[in-house]
Formats: sequence, structure tokens, C-alpha cells
Amino acid sequence: MTTPTTLIKNALCVFPDGIRQDTILLKDGKIHIAPPSTSAADRVIDATGLHLIPGVIDDQVHFRDPGLTHKEDLHTGSKACAKGGVTTFFDMPNTEPTTTTCDRLEKKLDLAAGKSMVNFGFFIGATLDNIYELQDAERTPGIKIFIGSSTGNLLVDDQEALEQIFAETKLPICAHCEDEETVQKNKTKRNGGREVEDHSSIRDHQAAIVATRRSIDLATRHKHAFHVLHVSTAEEIPLIKAAKGLVTAEVCPHHLFFNVDDYRRLGSLVQMNPSIKDASDNQALWNALIDGTIQVIATDHAPHTLEEKLRPYPLSPSGMPSVENSLALMLDAVNHGKITLERVVEAMCAGPAKVWNIIGKGSLKEGYDADVVLVDLNKSQKILNAEQVTKCNWSPWHGDTIKGWAVKTFVNGHLVFEDGKFDETVRGKEVQFNPERPGYWKN
Ligand code: DOR
Repeated sequence: MTTPTTLIKNALCVFPDGIRQDTILLKDGKIHIAPPSTSAADRVIDATGLHLIPGVIDDQVHFRDPGLTHKEDLHTGSKACAKGGVTTFFDMPNTEPTTTTCDRLEKKLDLAAGKSMVNFGFFIGATLDNIYELQDAERTPGIKIFIGSSTGNLLVDDQEALEQIFAETKLPICAHCEDEETVQKNKTKRNGGREVEDHSSIRDHQAAIVATRRSIDLATRHKHAFHVLHVSTAEEIPLIKAAKGLVTAEVCPHHLFFNVDDYRRLGSLVQMNPSIKDASDNQALWNALIDGTIQVIATDHAPHTLEEKLRPYPLSPSGMPSVENSLALMLDAVNHGKITLERVVEAMCAGPAKVWNIIGKGSLKEGYDADVVLVDLNKSQKILNAEQVTKCNWSPWHGDTIKGWAVKTFVNGHLVFEDGKFDETVRGKEVQFNPERPGYWKN
């Protein structure tokens, strides 16, 4: 596929050092800033009134491929990315089979090369006995540990096994931090749970705090780069702050926007692991995102069919889809004055690029990959189940009018999404990582 050349004029470009109107040329799949005025292009876009941002990097999605493709697959998940301005995703290992060997990792990469409309990477999952696979893996952002169980059967909560993983592997590690023992005790106390509200009492604050403290202790003692996925409580924030430099963290839109009061309105649609918590946690997470204690916004896009989600608790599975709406939800927050556009771009683009040592992505810089998104901060649109691109076809934000949307998404210079239409022939590329990994977060 030849790469077209595109000249984008008059956009308000969100550069690493500020927002300026400039001209950008996408050529040979790379970004060129302020090119000569004589530059020829296959397509010229007058982007007056629009902002140009780097493509979003979502470092936590569950695209269910292989094995659970009735919920999502790499094509539908990546199409949802294109709509949402997400040009790169990292997928989690709880597929069927699990991504716990180098061979399965490579098979997934091959599958994505044939199906994915945006760029991709896959975590390798830790088990109690796959240390050699974790040591050999190269074509991956890092190692994912489920320190508490979630969807699927990946779980490593044995201390000896965890010590070995942190001591004897080199790739950066990230973890789902909910303490299994605490969760099981709470479950027994509540006879397994009857109402979906019980979910936040079973997977309670303590479960998240204990597991995050335990992981940070492991990372600190073994001096191992570590990323806390989907932080959900105020109390985890000082733990993360104290380990700054070695430990980074992520927040998801559902933990910023939803809390236990939303069970009344949305029931099991907002059942998630880690569970949604209290309004005071929402506020603490916003503060930590704004002040940089949390470096990354990602979705944990976890599609289940509506039929599955509407089973009575505890039979309803945990997880919700959001990859096609995450950027819009954050732009809406910009429009409401909750956060700046610059900070959103840092946390959705440059932040994940830095955490995972990604080469050539996450910023509007000369020579970087031409993964860019034109956004219209003034466009208002309702999120509707019927219009969702994710295969599961629903959103917990159904019915909400959101202001601020991606209107054009480019992947390696290819226009993959434009005003509601897709080029489904575009294929993304495997993400490349700096060979000097693991890195430490330096401000
Ligand atoms: O609620 C969740 N569902 N949290 C996760 O971490 C996994 C996810 C899934 O895969 O369904």
C-alpha cells in the first residue's frame, strides 16, 4: 500500500511545548513540521478551527482475539480505535488461549498484522511457571501480572513467584492490583454478593490498596520499572507518589467519571474490576492526573455483550467498552474546564510513549510516525449504543451528549477515519520499543 502525502494547514497543533497554529506535512508515514511552502501533496486539508494532536496510545485494551471474538475482535476493536482517535493499542493477555508464551505472542502479532486498522502491541502474561517465556519475550511492551483475578484465569498472587518475576525479568511490568485474599474474604462475608452494589464492597478500597502497596514494594526492592494499571482509590495515590521515578500509574475514564452512586442508574453496566469507588475517589484521581502523579489515561476497554452484562449479579461479567469514546470524554472535560487540553494530550499520547519506551510516537515531532488526529473541540454528539463500532454495541455513556470529537484519524499517514467513514483496508504496524528498556520515568 503506498502512503499518500497529506498537507494539513491552519490547524492548532498541540506540540510538546505548547499550542501553535502551524502547517504539517504527512509524508512517507512521518510527520514534517512547517514544510517548504512549495511542498506538493495528494491531499490538502484546511483545518481552520480544528486542533491537531498526536494519535492516542491506549495501553490497556481487551480485544478478545483469539478465542472470545463474539465480544470483540482485532478488526472491530481497532476500528473503534480509529473512530476514537486511538492510533495505537496494547492488548492484554487474557484471551483464549492466554498470551503467556512467545509463540502465542507472535501468533497474535501476525493476527493483528492482518486485521488491525491501527498500530498494535501485546503484553505477555505472567503465570506461576512461565518465567523463561517472560525472559525471552522481546516483541512486547512488557509483562502483565494479574495480582488479583479478573476476567479469565490468569492469576499470580504467590509471593515467591512474584519475587522471581520482579527479580529475574527485564521487561517493564504492569499489574492489575486487587488483593485476591481480601476479595475472597469479602465475597465469603457477603455470600458471594446479591446486588451489583456488592461488587464495590467485595472488590473494596482495601483490596486495591493492599495489592498496589505489595506491587510497589516488589518493584522498589528489585528496582524494576513498574506501572500500576487502573488506579481506583485516593489511598493508592500517595503510595505511587512516594515511588515516583520507578513507578508510573494509569487512570481510566470510568474511574474518573463513575462512582457507586451510578449503580442505581446503570447497574451491572458499570461493574468493573477494579470496582468503581466513591465520589471522593473520583476527585482524588482527577487531582493526581492533573498534577502528574498519574502519567497515563487508558481505557481497560473490556467488551462483553449486553446480554452477558445484563445477567443477574454475580453472573454478570466485569468490564465495559470505551475505546471509541475515551478521547471525546476527556475533550468534553476540557470543555468543562476540568483539565487542560495539553494535559490530556500528555496523558493519552506522550505519557504512554514514555512509560513503554515506544519509538517515534506520542508527540507532534519532526520525523515521528504520522499518527495524528484532527479534533473538533466544538463538535457535540450524543453517544448512542446503535452507533458504537465495538462489536458489543453498547456504551455506559449511551444518551450522553459529549462536546469534543476526533474528526479525522491518520495512522502512519493513512486516513483511516473521516467524519463517520472508515477506510477498512488500512493496516497498522507492530509498535517498536527502545532497546535500552526498561527506562525510569524522568521529568
Ligand atoms: O473489569 C475488568 N474486565 N477488568 C479487567 O481488568 C479485565 C476486564 C476483562 O477482560 O473483562
